[in-house]
Amino acid sequence: MTGKGEDLKKVFIKTYGCQMNVYDSERMSDVLARAGYEPAAAVEAADLVLVNTCHIREKAAEKVYSELGRLRELKEERAASGREMLLGVTGCVAQAEGSEIARRARGVDLVVGPQSYHRLPELIATAARTGAAVVETEFDVARKFGVLDRVHGRSGQGRRDRRVSAFLTVQEGCDKFCTFCVVPYTRGAEVSRPAAAIVAEARRLAEDGVRELTLLGQNVNAWHDGRAGLGSLLFQLAEIPGVERLRYTTSHPRDMSDDLIAAHRDLDALMPYLHLPVQSGSDRVLAAMNRRHTRHEYLTLIERVRRARPDIALAGDFIVGFPGESDADFADTLSLVDEAGYMAAFTFKYSPRPGTPAATADDQVAEPVKDERLYRLQEKIDARAAAFLHSRVGLTVDVLFERAGRRAGQIVGRAPWLMPVHVEAPPSLIGEIAPVALTGVAGNSLFGVLARSTARRGTSRGDQAAIVEVAP
Ligand code: SAH
Ligand code: SF4
Ligand code: F3S
Repeated sequence: MTGKGEDLKKVFIKTYGCQMNVYDSERMSDVLARAGYEPAAAVEAADLVLVNTCHIREKAAEKVYSELGRLRELKEERAASGREMLLGVTGCVAQAEGSEIARRARGVDLVVGPQSYHRLPELIATAARTGAAVVETEFDVARKFGVLDRVHGRSGQGRRDRRVSAFLTVQEGCDKFCTFCVVPYTRGAEVSRPAAAIVAEARRLAEDGVRELTLLGQNVNAWHDGRAGLGSLLFQLAEIPGVERLRYTTSHPRDMSDDLIAAHRDLDALMPYLHLPVQSGSDRVLAAMNRRHTRHEYLTLIERVRRARPDIALAGDFIVGFPGESDADFADTLSLVDEAGYMAAFTFKYSPRPGTPAATADDQVAEPVKDERLYRLQEKIDARAAAFLHSRVGLTVDVLFERAGRRAGQIVGRAPWLMPVHVEAPPSLIGEIAPVALTGVAGNSLFGVLARSTARRGTSRGDQAAIVEVAP
């Protein structure tokens, strides 16, 4: 063990769950780079394996345990050949279950909640030294933000890969306490990162070639710094040289403020796409979920957003089979999908989560009923998604090219409404925005040909005719 290459340890991070976890995994990589870990190409080559977990539905959480079972076998094989491997669990299951994980899954050396990633190096050292499982599930988001900011600032590590589009966490945690949801328990109370730190990170990303920023938060539109809300932050970010496109996710209807709607009206860099989960179309269910708005309020809000930005595409999240959901309630959800005019939506069967109020309700919906409702809702959404894609054919839109395509000669970018667009074009266009005449649909993607016009027709507010086909 003399060569420099052998001194560097290798870490493999396996990420489950939402984009926040994807972002956090990158930050863990940054922190660990400073402690002498470089990324491993495969799990078999790693000295440290971290499983960054999701607790949102039962399936997601159960997957963690089967994964840990497999990793323990790997760890034992490695020990037999004289090389040690540390195994850690991070993310929302770590936060929710803590030391229970170490009890249930043998071989786990570390359990670290989302607020303690800045402490990973010392926690790893303790685990390696003591040989006992180290469990760290304190809540200190503000401190996490502070320390991770300094990590970027000094090392610039983890930014070697050239990316066109990047996530940027601006807010973490949730105070909403929807009765089905674990997030307020796993991510803690809402904390906003200061504007100055966000702008500094955005500048660094832009200098590294990033052209599109997606601001992340469990309730991203609850972000605020003093009296400034997300709308004003978006305006600030749009000023940064190199930042061409802005997106944000996920937002809550209750936090859709006037300044944010104004940003959709006035800010060309803000893409015409809004992911605004509603969960149900029934007032009774919305109340039982503690969403704290009605169907009518949601629809009125959508109308206001559409008035500000007529070409906006709407995406949502739905839960079917929430306790007490009747056929009539579900019919309200189906009708809301058409009335609101969704382009896309994520649909889920209600999954009872330990510690949440809805989990112990006595009017749970039977599994086959959930299955059938999920199928019917998904069918409707799929039809709407296909109609939306087909309504784009014939338009010329700006595409931000991100990567080489699977077929030789093709590159892939994203339309303003987020879906991939495949185009025959030179790789030199990767990282650039170019106009594309859309010619067809394949699955969930579009394809097209480079167009000469540089007019931003696809995102311009004059482009209403095509939208009418899919909106009510
Ligand atoms: N903060 C986001 C949602 C985060 S969770 C928001 O409020 O919109 C992502 C999605 O998972 C939710 O929108 C919801 O549709 C789904 N979800 C959350 N808890 C669930 C549960 N117990 N069962 C099924 N789906 C759930
Ligand atoms: Fe969960 Fe509701 Fe908070 Fe979204 S708003 S993270 S669904 S509690
Ligand atoms: Fe899952 Fe935690 Fe994200 S529960 S959805 S990883 S906030």
